[in-house]
Amino acid sequence: MSSEYVPVFLPHRESEVKETLKHFYPIIRGEKGLTKTVIYDGPTGTGKTAVAKRILLSLSEHASLGKFPPLTTSYVNAYELRSKFSVFRKIGEDVGLRFPRKGFSTHEVIAYTFQTLSRSGSNLVLVVDEADMLVRQKEGEEVLYVLTRVGELLSDVNVGIGLIVIFRDFQVSTESISNVGVRSSLSSTVIRFNPYSSKQLADILWYRVEKEGAMRPGAVGSEVIEMIANTFGYDHQRGGWGDARMALKTLYYAALRAENLGRGVVLPEDVREVLNQGILPTPFDEEEIEKLQLHEKILLLAITNILLMERDKAYVSIGDVEFEYEDLCNNYGIKPLKHTSIWERVQVLKNKGLIDTRVSSMDGKGRTTQIALPQVPEVEYLGINRVPLDVLKKVLQESIEEELRSAH
Ligand SMILES: Nc1ncnc2c1ncn2[C@@H]1O[C@H](COP(=O)(O)OP(=O)(O)O)[C@@H](O)[C@H]1O
Ligand SMILES: [Mg+2]
Repeated sequence: MSSEYVPVFLPHRESEVKETLKHFYPIIRGEKGLTKTVIYDGPTGTGKTAVAKRILLSLSEHASLGKFPPLTTSYVNAYELRSKFSVFRKIGEDVGLRFPRKGFSTHEVIAYTFQTLSRSGSNLVLVVDEADMLVRQKEGEEVLYVLTRVGELLSDVNVGIGLIVIFRDFQVSTESISNVGVRSSLSSTVIRFNPYSSKQLADILWYRVEKEGAMRPGAVGSEVIEMIANTFGYDHQRGGWGDARMALKTLYYAALRAENLGRGVVLPEDVREVLNQGILPTPFDEEEIEKLQLHEKILLLAITNILLMERDKAYVSIGDVEFEYEDLCNNYGIKPLKHTSIWERVQVLKNKGLIDTRVSSMDGKGRTTQIALPQVPEVEYLGINRVPLDVLKKVLQESIEEELRSAH
């Protein structure tokens, strides 16, 4: 699961691949003297780099098998290669040239690179990744200026260029482009990469586990996949990250933890441990617990206890939680709340991000089996995804006992 790895399957990004290839069709067919530009725009972890690299790999495979006219592919990361010179030197290297650090001007690197391409009759498909940084500098703007106008700038060069420029925030980035020509040549085709929903993340995790063989079959079950997918999935009302990298990383570290403990199966507790170790911007905060009302604490403790009993479950039914809550109230010698009040407290805990909920159950492969009829309220399942249960249990017990002591 390294970051260099380019997955073969990219579920939920098929249309982005197709649209890019459609736009590049003249370039792939060998047409000369034009640049076709596609912009990828979307937040981190939405698959922009993976899609672009997958396209490069497929195109170069097809070209090397002679299925296309000659085609060269190149990938530059503008964040890593900060100067205009290093960007063009990398493109030159991908074309097969070697430029020593000294002795060549940027202009010479550009000229040799494109003359070489032109002479060999090859077109170029190029990815410029992390371009947000690029357009904030004058030099960076010039990179895009050159790439979109190779034909005009170099009279002896005749190539077709397919250009993917990747932005995290295209709108903000274009505002800082001063050159009107560059701005207009970038405004053509923009492909939006939206944050992934929980359902999409579950599919991505399953693909990685099953089709790409990232893990031994059976080492991870749908509870864990769904738990991770729900934690990171984006939803219009609730927001969220929608970040596949965070989700994959969490699964990877959870599996590593299970392995280090000599356990062949990844459990929800592995996920909680990993999530509490700072992958998320807000790790567990004890003060947040102190500020809860007594019945909210007891309810949270009830959820914790049930989850501790059912170690392979990431979500437990609200019915089971209610029984445990009533038991706890009896033990503490206080009167339990009624069902509707419990429901309200569940919403409080949910809004504070202390618990996670799921409304429908999934089948074994992460696909939702929607059985919700309009009149029938869905059964709610409750989980705790971000905090290790033993830690939470201890903090809650102490806090509840403290509160009961000071009340007497
Ligand atoms: N649709 C997808 N299917 C499978 N893996 C994906 C998908 N989208 C993203 N990934 C994986 O998630 C991680 C982050 O994706 P990446 O392309 O680097 O995102 P971005 O460039 O938008 O920040 C990578 O490991 C990538 O392989
Ligand atoms: Mg990227």
